[in-house]
Amino acid sequence: MPLEKTLGLIRRLCHDAGIDGGGLLVDFSGTASGIVEQGDNDMIITWSNTLSVGHESIDQEHKHVLDTMARIYLVELDKKSDEEVIQLFGELIDLIVDHFHSEETVMRANRYPDADDHSKLHGEFFSRITSILYLLETGSDRVAGELIRCVEDWASHHILVHDKKFIDFISGA
Ligand SMILES: [Fe+2]
Ligand SMILES: [Fe+2]
Repeated sequence: MPLEKTLGLIRRLCHDAGIDGGGLLVDFSGTASGIVEQGDNDMIITWSNTLSVGHESIDQEHKHVLDTMARIYLVELDKKSDEEVIQLFGELIDLIVDHFHSEETVMRANRYPDADDHSKLHGEFFSRITSILYLLETGSDRVAGELIRCVEDWASHHILVHDKKFIDFISGA
């Protein structure tokens, strides 16, 4: 998918999801120094049972998102096909929008008290994904490294802390 088309898709998805993705994409250009290079030996995290939050469909959605990020990482490391990376980003964004929507629906249906804060974290994660796409657009060699950091942060902070917390709440644990 051509990059312009992908960016258009992102803006539409952001709009549908109520996220200011377009603005965040532009804002990122001033904050690229926050990204740290990774060494050659770093590997991207993939889904395993240690990341289970105890909710079957949400676990499956996390797995799909992480699998897709790992695919992007591997294709990007190959440095052969920007087209394929961009297409995978389109798939990733679809998965993320659907996933956040399903979590937010479950939270609100169960009157989870921290739903608003949780939704804000989803917006921040989404902006991080669009910022990686920005790196790709500008031909940066930081895409793979930033993907690793993004997955690490999302798995260890968001899935295992924030998602686990709301699942425990709705299941009465
Ligand atoms: Fe999640
Ligand atoms: Fe979440």
